[in-house]
Amino acid sequence: MLLNLTILPGDGIGPEVTEQAVLVLQSVANALGHKLQLQSKNIGGAALAAVEDPLPPDTIQACLSSSAVLLGAVGSPGFDHYPNHLRPEAGLLRLRRELGAYANLRPAVCFPALEACSPLRGELVRSTDIMIVRELLGGLYFGEPRSVSGPAGARFAVNTMTYDERAIERIARVAFDLAVKRRRKVLSVDKANVLECSRLWREVVTRCAKDYPAVQLAHMYVDSAAMSLVQRPRDFDVLLTENMFGDILSDQAGGVVGSLGLLASASIGGPVGLYEPVHGSAPDIAGKGIANPLGAILSVALLLRHSFQLEREAGCIENAVGAVLDQGARTADLARAGESPISTSEMGQQVVAELRSTKPAS
Ligand code: IPM
Ligand code: MG
Repeated sequence: MLLNLTILPGDGIGPEVTEQAVLVLQSVANALGHKLQLQSKNIGGAALAAVEDPLPPDTIQACLSSSAVLLGAVGSPGFDHYPNHLRPEAGLLRLRRELGAYANLRPAVCFPALEACSPLRGELVRSTDIMIVRELLGGLYFGEPRSVSGPAGARFAVNTMTYDERAIERIARVAFDLAVKRRRKVLSVDKANVLECSRLWREVVTRCAKDYPAVQLAHMYVDSAAMSLVQRPRDFDVLLTENMFGDILSDQAGGVVGSLGLLASASIGGPVGLYEPVHGSAPDIAGKGIANPLGAILSVALLLRHSFQLEREAGCIENAVGAVLDQGARTADLARAGESPISTSEMGQQVVAELRSTKPAS
């Protein structure tokens, strides 16, 4: 199969982790006879520095003409004072919209070898396997009006949360379809005791559930869900929620399973899928070669699964990651007292070596 991809390394640790993810992709492609066609483009702060646009037209063009996009991270403190549309993050949000990527899947799995990395007791986090389904093109991130106005000292800021029935229904269906193939539970998270958007959300999700009689639907307010996520993470199967709640709860899930550096994501629903680790650009550790590349590497697995239906290839990568963790490979975010951390590239190399040593089942 021809895998025609655009790579967007982005900012901070983005290029470092993306490099390892691409090496892993090349290794799997070689082993299983796929041809890779890659082009690399700028996004975020890197694009602002080059052409003063966080999402230049040639980047959009390249993405739209590929079969899938792999992104590192965006965000760069040097641009923090820029107006909203010229921040690195604006490039990512526009890209998600251009690609029609409304469904953001963020699996949070506790690898057996990493139980002790969780701040929770091992018996609480053991076997945690959550699929967060975050609505990605609505809510506060995109709602109009939005503004800051008024004189210095008396300024006034506005953001708007909006959702229509169509946007809720299409993301709910993604969650139910996933649940059917998992443990058949959907927890829909909202704030229906306060927000109109959430009351509409709950009503539409409840209506959709009628088409999925095998799936058990429950609702929870977001504050309570945040608490349950640390009290009993194992009870969660598919967690369906709106854009901002999903942003917050997915970082929390990363903490629960041991490190945000492990979490991968798929943003799908449009013609071209976008795959990126859940973590940000981490400017404090950028350039040091210590970032965890596993979130990016596992994003490659999601890319193969969701954009190319290459389930076997995706599984090979996920198994290789599990195996190197079993063998004790730990980047700085995972290393505990007495364990010596390995670098970003060493972690990548170990995954590649593991992939080479295991003959893929045909
Ligand atoms: C994420 C990130 C982004 C988001 C930022 C970088 C715009 O935090 O993907 O979770 O808020 O969606
Ligand atoms: Mg986030």
